[in-house]
Amino acid sequence: MILPEEKLTLKDGRTVIIRTPEEKDAQALLDYLKKTAGETDFLIRYPEEITFTLESEYNIINSTRESEDSAWFTVFEGDRVVGNCTFSPIGSQMKFRHRCSIAIALEQSYCSCGLGAVLFERAIDTARKIGYEQIELGVFEDNDRGRALYKKMGFEEYGRIPHAVRLKDGSYKDEITMVLFLQ
Ligand SMILES: CC(C)(COP(=O)(O)OP(=O)(O)OC[C@H]1O[C@@H](n2cnc3c(N)ncnc32)[C@H](O)[C@@H]1OP(=O)(O)O)[C@@H](O)C(=O)NCCC(=O)NCCS
Repeated sequence: MILPEEKLTLKDGRTVIIRTPEEKDAQALLDYLKKTAGETDFLIRYPEEITFTLESEYNIINSTRESEDSAWFTVFEGDRVVGNCTFSPIGSQMKFRHRCSIAIALEQSYCSCGLGAVLFERAIDTARKIGYEQIELGVFEDNDRGRALYKKMGFEEYGRIPHAVRLKDGSYKDEITMVLFLQ
């Protein structure tokens, strides 16, 4: 899905562009994935696991642009990607078509300036217009900022997978499942 481009001034005065990425943004997206994966343990990959090729990035960018049921709200500072919020269907089967999942990651320097809430508002609004009935996400138990944002957006906790994640140091984290009903 291709969304209209939006210029946004953040609480701290910085200006960013939110738009659907194009093929020319593939390397910037890979750089952003690697950077954010190294900044926090709240994402599912370690930086060395960001091994996507430019070719695979072109494919996912193009399939998202052509899709009618998924969208990327990508945040640009100039040519650099500093955040991304995406939603996509849980599955292609008819029985799952009312459900989508949402994910978000901002560079640390863009956290705590209201960007997460803006991206979630845009994504929730678009998912509702498409006809989804519920949006789902998983968040690690110690991600207080994420959990606070999702709660503020109306998501509620419905489940917990114990020891969903095992870090390099051998410690575990639970994953909490949250759902927002749209109707
Ligand atoms: C999680 C994330 C998307 C939140 O977006 P954000 O724009 O930074 O969100 P905010 O800083 O505006 O915080 C949202 C709310 O949490 C509150 N909050 C911030 N830090 C908090 C903390 N440590 N504990 C509890 N609440 C906190 C804020 O006060 C805010 O509520 P308010 O608007 O009512 O004041 C963003 O920080 C991020 O991408 N982090 C790194 C990657 C990540 O964790 N991704 C999500 C994986 S599930």
